[in-house]
Amino acid sequence: MWIVADARIRRRRRQRGGPDAWSRPTSSKLRDYPMPLYDGDLEAGDGMPESVGRLGFRMRDHEGLLLACPEYNSSITPLLKNTIDWLSRPVDGAAPLAAFRGKVAGLLAASPGGLGGLRGLVHVRAILSGIGVHVIPTQVAVPKSHEAFDDDGVRDERLAGRLDALAAELVRTTARLGSG
Ligand SMILES: Cc1cc2nc3c(=O)[nH]c(=O)nc-3n(C[C@H](O)[C@H](O)[C@H](O)COP(=O)(O)O)c2cc1C
Repeated sequence: MWIVADARIRRRRRQRGGPDAWSRPTSSKLRDYPMPLYDGDLEAGDGMPESVGRLGFRMRDHEGLLLACPEYNSSITPLLKNTIDWLSRPVDGAAPLAAFRGKVAGLLAASPGGLGGLRGLVHVRAILSGIGVHVIPTQVAVPKSHEAFDDDGVRDERLAGRLDALAAELVRTTARLGSG
């Protein structure tokens, strides 16, 4: 499952190392799953937003996740953190943390800045590891993202190779460790 953890779509670019390398990939954009800011009183009063159930259901149906994560102020974006917070809440009839536990994840970031969102991935990795996700060691952060892609995809062959390697390692590790 390929999750674009970004609310905006206008700068989306094709990634050679992404879904093409997967056997049965699906793609989800978090903008298609709008959720209010997590609030325990809201949850107690209104229950789960339907978007949480929809995304949780999709995630439970996949063993491997490739997350494309923007970085805000050297960390995880509020959109991705809020989504993880909602999805971590218990759902009737499902095992605790069913959307996460035992999944395998690969992390990818791209930013116009010089570090490519690398610092945010440190936090995404820690949060996912804390809720039972196996995050693979390889990750890719793409600096100067406005120069890195064109309409045909990735411009630099070395970067394309690193993205391919990330996807391949994710597929391999998922086959070995995936929750089934
Ligand atoms: C509030 C805010 C904070 C940001 N902080 C960083 C940052 O720390 N490092 C970085 O590389 N880019 C940073 N950026 C740039 C984002 O990485 C860039 O805008 C990226 O495309 C995010 O996509 P989005 O604005 O569509 O969510 C920041 C952008 C915003 C709006």
